[in-house]
Amino acid sequence: MNLTWTLLLLLLLELTVFASGLPFSRRHIDNPRSWVPGGQHRYCDVMMRRRWLIHRGRCKQINTFIHEDLATIADFCTSPAVPCTSSGSLLSCHNSSHDVSVTDCFAKAGTRPPYCHYQKKDSIRPICVGCKNGAPVHLDS
Ligand SMILES: *[C@@H]1O[C@H](CO)[C@@H](O)[C@H](O)[C@H]1NC(C)=O
Repeated sequence: MNLTWTLLLLLLLELTVFASGLPFSRRHIDNPRSWVPGGQHRYCDVMMRRRWLIHRGRCKQINTFIHEDLATIADFCTSPAVPCTSSGSLLSCHNSSHDVSVTDCFAKAGTRPPYCHYQKKDSIRPICVGCKNGAPVHLDS
């Protein structure tokens, strides 16, 4: 592959990853739940790092990992639309038709890269997803 193509590809990657946000599955799907070194209490610290949710000099404040496959989450896109609480008007949001297994990660006060520290909370709860063309692209708070 020549240099021009390489640069073009890098540019496209940059645009897709950073302009429109990381893909939903990368930000939010972890199924089955990953094993992390050092014990499950370190789950959030490790996963936030693995999934590149630490960038531009800041620790991402909140993120949810869903322990279900993407197809299960995509099914929720077919349920009736409800207003989104935390995103632009471009999206329609949809309540999950059943509870799902999730881990919520909350940044600890004052934590800074490169070692972002998180509190974790495991639960089985409903979620609300924002969809575009039938695919989940946003997890509503
Ligand atoms: C969707 O979920 C929210 C939050 O749990 C709830 O308040 C709302 O009534 C639900 N809407 C529908 C149509 O199920």
